[in-house]
Amino acid sequence: MLIFESPSAMTAWSSTQRSDHKTIGFVPTMGALHDGHLMLIHEAQQVSDVVVVSIFVNPLQFNRRDDFEHYPRPAALDLERCRERGVTAVYAPTADAMYPGGFDTHIEVGQLAQPLEGAGRPGHFRGVATVVTKLFNAVQPHAAFFGEKDFQQLTVIKRMVIDLDMPINIVGCVTTREPDGLALSSRNARLSTTQRDAAIVVPEALAAICAAHERGITLSRELRDIATHVVRQEPLARLEYIDIVDPHTLHQVDAVNAEVRVVIAVWVGDVRLIDNIALSV
Ligand code: PAJ
Repeated sequence: MLIFESPSAMTAWSSTQRSDHKTIGFVPTMGALHDGHLMLIHEAQQVSDVVVVSIFVNPLQFNRRDDFEHYPRPAALDLERCRERGVTAVYAPTADAMYPGGFDTHIEVGQLAQPLEGAGRPGHFRGVATVVTKLFNAVQPHAAFFGEKDFQQLTVIKRMVIDLDMPINIVGCVTTREPDGLALSSRNARLSTTQRDAAIVVPEALAAICAAHERGITLSRELRDIATHVVRQEPLARLEYIDIVDPHTLHQVDAVNAEVRVVIAVWVGDVRLIDNIALSV
């Protein structure tokens, strides 16, 4: 497996792959790889000749310094996982290589960055869009694979490649879950045993909305109340938001009359968990 640490080394290799008519599949990550990331790698391998995984904890997208500092960085284990899975190349640039002194250009996301994750984390999507653009420029992928787990991020990136004429196919992949329904996340490792038990209210709240919708409830307000009630039952959990939104604009909808996304953010201790599901009529 190849490992590249600078944008120029990454781009030089990608250019030779492209001249050899190889299709490049790309999975951007911040490392601490779990089965959700491995599923994205697997999906990329199904449709690409070579697969590049990037591992970079992007300081630009963290608005809490402690969150950035506590972010897990098991570098050797991550490389081992990639090697085992037959990844062709890992792109693991240093922070200096990505953001050298004088760095002064960012990608500004518009309306899609305002609600939900954007409301609680100002500048987050500007940081994501900027780093993903830089990663795309270095890796030059034909297709890039993102998890539906971060639904707003997927929506923002899909919009960005259209708006900026980036010839990259953005592929959304379904959320990988623990057997009890909790979505896999690098942050789950920070939950204590009791907090891990409490975190189950996140998929339970979404499941309660699904069940209510199947019983014929379509009003967003009623559906949200049902989920809020589920989260309130758990003293260790605090609901930040539960919203029912149009999957393209992320605007809130009053009722489920077409395909929508139910998106949720819950704090358990100092760990913030997000999840979402699709609901259709
Ligand atoms: P990270 O949180 O490491 O996630 C990398 C990719 O894995 C994202 O596309 C995310 O949606 C996906 N993912 C995470 N958990 C998943 C799960 N349980 N099931 C399916 N996919 C899952 O997202 C980022 O990094 C960063 O913002 C990044 C795009 C790399 C830019 O820095």
